Amino acid sequence: MNWDKELLEEIRIDSIEHLEEKKKVAEKIAEKVKDNQVIGFGSGSTSYLATIAIADKIKKENLQIIAIPTSFEIKMLCAYLEIPTANLSEKKPDWSFDGADEVDSNNWLIKGKGGAMFKEKLNIVNSPITYILIDSSKRVNKLGEKNKVPVEIYPDAINYVKEELFRLGAKEIALRQAVNKAGPIITENGNLILDVKFNTITEKLEKDIKAIPGVIENGLFIGYNVEIID
Ligand code: A5P
Repeated sequence: MNWDKELLEEIRIDSIEHLEEKKKVAEKIAEKVKDNQVIGFGSGSTSYLATIAIADKIKKENLQIIAIPTSFEIKMLCAYLEIPTANLSEKKPDWSFDGADEVDSNNWLIKGKGGAMFKEKLNIVNSPITYILIDSSKRVNKLGEKNKVPVEIYPDAINYVKEELFRLGAKEIALRQAVNKAGPIITENGNLILDVKFNTITEKLEKDIKAIPGVIENGLFIGYNVEIID
């Protein structure tokens, strides 16, 4: 039997900035899909459009693919679009795609506006290659010039992690607040997110943040195997 998927339809994203540019890169990534591949699916509005473009291609060409989604919203979208999913303990991606909030000339990234950087980084390190889909607003001269660095933390560690982030050079730290829920955002892993302003982002900052006890993950992606598609 099939479910009436009315509620799944509500994960639709209605207002997307730079929509036309994002649709173009979504089409480009759909062209790379081949039969029987396992593909890591990123999160955010560009990945949402890419998922829809890939679902169209699957239907038109009758392809079999398995998605490894990086968030509940993309997993639900896959269920709605009838793309089978697996997790990383079951399948290894042939390749992945994802969006980004900032990309510099070294292909260093800031990600995590959608709070999904924990699973996004896992997909990237488990994939031979990850295509990062961006529109022109994502290119920056200096990483951190437009966006803060999201840091996912174990909730009880909040005060200690804050002190350590200031020790690493943080200029401002904000606890990300939820919309349609009182209090802070709770991630898919049951944690909090701090949005942290750094004036200078060095090559070792990602690892320095990750080494703080209580930090689960952060949104710096420095030196990963990525190819930019714009
Ligand atoms: C999700 O947590 C993020 O890493 C997104 O990939 C990033 O914020 C890009 O989002 P858009 O595609 O919506 O710009």
